[in-house]
Amino acid sequence: MQNIFFHYILYMQEKIFREIEEIRKSIQKINTKDIKEIEEFHVKYLGKKGKFSKLFKSFRKLLPYQKKQLGESINQLKKQAKEISSKLKEEKVTTFQEGILEDFTKPGISCIIGRRHPISTMKHTIINLFEAIGFITVEGPEIEDDWHNFTALNFPDHHPSRDMQDTFFIEKNPDLLLRTHTSSVQIRYMENHRPPIRILSPGRVYRNEAITARSHCMFHQIEGLYVNKGVSFTNLKQTIHYFINELFGSVRYRFRPSYFPFTEPSAEVDVYCGLESEIDRSITKGTGWLEVMGCGMVDPHVLQNVDIDPENFSGFAFGIGIERIALLLYKIEDIRFYFDNDIRFLKQF
Ligand code: DAH
Repeated sequence: MQNIFFHYILYMQEKIFREIEEIRKSIQKINTKDIKEIEEFHVKYLGKKGKFSKLFKSFRKLLPYQKKQLGESINQLKKQAKEISSKLKEEKVTTFQEGILEDFTKPGISCIIGRRHPISTMKHTIINLFEAIGFITVEGPEIEDDWHNFTALNFPDHHPSRDMQDTFFIEKNPDLLLRTHTSSVQIRYMENHRPPIRILSPGRVYRNEAITARSHCMFHQIEGLYVNKGVSFTNLKQTIHYFINELFGSVRYRFRPSYFPFTEPSAEVDVYCGLESEIDRSITKGTGWLEVMGCGMVDPHVLQNVDIDPENFSGFAFGIGIERIALLLYKIEDIRFYFDNDIRFLKQF
């Protein structure tokens, strides 16, 4: 009996070695560019009815210690065959792609790639312009407290100036609110840094306003602040002039006296869009002018609130509406388009 088993094992071993040899030979023969041949190889050896399944079937008949002897080599061989099969498949994929690149008459592989949102593009363009003249970018929280959003910026308690910006308060804590402007970041930064200060702070702001073609309850601003010794209104005008010229080329713009609690004197800047097209007329409400930012000299009270001596230092600040600038540059007549996420709109940028 033992002899029969012994012969059987020898026979099996020999069979396996022959298989190994056969696989090796087949591998050498295989043409990597022929997808069919690769698939056939896979089915022939690794498929359900492939050589390995058959091998394992006969293997099951062996005694445990014999299994131990042979199992390893069968498994190794199977692993090898699997590796070869996947390597061939990988190579096939690359040669297939190369084939497309070589043959210019074949249609390309189409793929849909994402792109930046126009507001995001605008934000980065503006940031780049100011970073080029030494401003750094800092950010602050969108949920603010009363001090940073109002009080420190010289909005006295119960003062009508607070009504300039319709605020969303957090119900559970009336001291907390959704920031109405990015000016709050001025305070946060000045609380922790001493002049010279040159910062930009971009971000989302919220106001309890009706959603129409021209206003939204959520929009984006970029705040700018420069505090140093001897900063003057002339410096502010130079900076705004640089910004507008870089962004719009040589357009007409004007400083219009205005009021903000945190700046004195204050101004708003309007850019002339003209009245030629329907869009120009609608975004400028028929005046030809569109307001793009507020600005002014930092009120001495604001500096005092953050322990910067207004006798020694002065500063200017500005707040740019990103949607407004994009409206003007891209000629978009409705602010709601920005937030609808309609792919037909977004695809244009
Ligand atoms: N915070 C103002 C607003 O949201 C915009 C603004 C005006 C910012 C004048 C400033 C500034 O820094 O100096 O309406």
